[in-house]
Amino acid sequence: MESWVRAIILLLTFLFPASVESMVRHYKFSVVMKNTTRLCATKPIVTVNGKFPGPTLYAREDDTVIVRVVNHVNYNATIHWHGIRQLRTGWSDGPAYITQCPIQPGQSYQYNFTLMGQRGTLLWHAHISWLRATLHGAIVILPKRGIPYPFPKPDKELVIILGEWWKSDVEAVINQAIQSGLPPNVSDAHTINGYPGPVPNCSSQGGYTLHVESDKTYLLRIINAAVNDELFFMIAKHQLTIVEVDATYTKPFKTDHIFIGPGQTTNALLAADQATGKYLIAASPFMDAPIPIDNLTGIATLRYKETITNSPLILTNIPPQNATPLTSTFIDSLLSLNSKQYPATVPLTVDYSLLFTVGVGVNPCATCVNGSQLVANINNVTFVMPTTALLQAHYYNISGVFTDDFPGNPLMPYNYTGNPPANMQTMNGTRLYRLAYNSSVQIVLQGTAVIAPENHPTHLHGYNVFAVGKGLGNFDPVNDPKKFNLVDPIERNTIGVPSGGWTAIRFRADNPGVWLLHCHLEVHTTWGLKMAFVVDNGKGPNESLLPPPSDLPTC
Ligand code: C2O
Repeated sequence: MESWVRAIILLLTFLFPASVESMVRHYKFSVVMKNTTRLCATKPIVTVNGKFPGPTLYAREDDTVIVRVVNHVNYNATIHWHGIRQLRTGWSDGPAYITQCPIQPGQSYQYNFTLMGQRGTLLWHAHISWLRATLHGAIVILPKRGIPYPFPKPDKELVIILGEWWKSDVEAVINQAIQSGLPPNVSDAHTINGYPGPVPNCSSQGGYTLHVESDKTYLLRIINAAVNDELFFMIAKHQLTIVEVDATYTKPFKTDHIFIGPGQTTNALLAADQATGKYLIAASPFMDAPIPIDNLTGIATLRYKETITNSPLILTNIPPQNATPLTSTFIDSLLSLNSKQYPATVPLTVDYSLLFTVGVGVNPCATCVNGSQLVANINNVTFVMPTTALLQAHYYNISGVFTDDFPGNPLMPYNYTGNPPANMQTMNGTRLYRLAYNSSVQIVLQGTAVIAPENHPTHLHGYNVFAVGKGLGNFDPVNDPKKFNLVDPIERNTIGVPSGGWTAIRFRADNPGVWLLHCHLEVHTTWGLKMAFVVDNGKGPNESLLPPPSDLPTC
């Protein structure tokens, strides 16, 4: 090609980017320590590029994203792109010892993945130990160029990240808990875009301010990046219209409160339709089991342009911590958009029908405080972390790392939600469940009452799942499936299992690799409430896991 022709083409693509179908976006994440002051005290925290919350990753559907992560801290690190399907690119998923060995201090790794069939908000976070407490940020996936949202275009978009803050060093908190066998200390505050707002003993600190102009509409991309706490989110006197969760569109509905578990994301339209002034924004915890949690409300301010300086903050009622009905109303309102353009592709038949109990347990531990340690399990198996990454063991056929005999049903059935059994001991194992390519899978996640019935926001890597049913008590395999919603159930990557109840999910195993399933309450993950699926390749390269990248970290 003549060089002047090439120059004109280059100029044209520059002037009219619409002609560019998709692009490659490069990001650099430097993992660095940063002294940060919150709650009137300063401590060094692990951050990406010195920011808390970390930088937002922007891309469009169909784009390829390349993030070079350089580890400059003294901890092993990995980053997980929570909710991104990672079709055939499991090497870029991020959970330590599952899909990769950690990036060691001084080392780097390039995550490389393409965004397919998803649009909306997700989050990235560290996936090793409890580093994600401060190592997290937003992922914004815009629709393809020229494709509108299936809702009125907002005037502005804003990211709202909810989190948890500990005064002490978070790694010390979890290490001490592991040593003692006891629950870790709860956090000291909840944050909104990094700030707790005024709290007792530290009222002087400022909080995040959301600036709005009257009569404009805002798209809030709300992310729960908290470590252990499910949260309510609300803005005084303002209703929110939910339009998307976990990067899938929903049927729009209006609500006063959002209920959001760790790992979940919610896009909501906010109409600035109230009188000029300052309004309270709150992130308050939900817990309907007798388990101590951080009960402080994170506070921010919605402020209209032209609000006079000393106008009073307009308050709202904070829901009680155990407001279970609010959570069910919110969850029951969530339905897939299921339009012609965005159909809900719910598997109507089931190749694998699995029943997984999820809960905690107690195992003997000679060195622990009470001679026992709290653990958690799926089907009474407490997951033991391997020292070789499972995906490598699978790809290279390395034996002795995992077995594929994870029980598809409880080995010893009991009344899961009744009086807890006398023996609360679990089995240890690195056991996986093998799935054939493109098979359809149903999992009933059955909560147990061992110690206490508790809510479990359960996350599956590499997939979205449809939440086809839920209920209280024990799942009834005869009558409950009759009530399943196979038309427009919500599709997401993290689904709550109600306290003392069950949730049924379905997905199609069309993504080969090794995929972690776990409770996204980090305390439960640490205790072993996790397992993994190994999904075999299908036929030919398009249905097979790609080969590992050359810079894949070694253990
Ligand atoms: Cu958001 Cu396995 O995690």
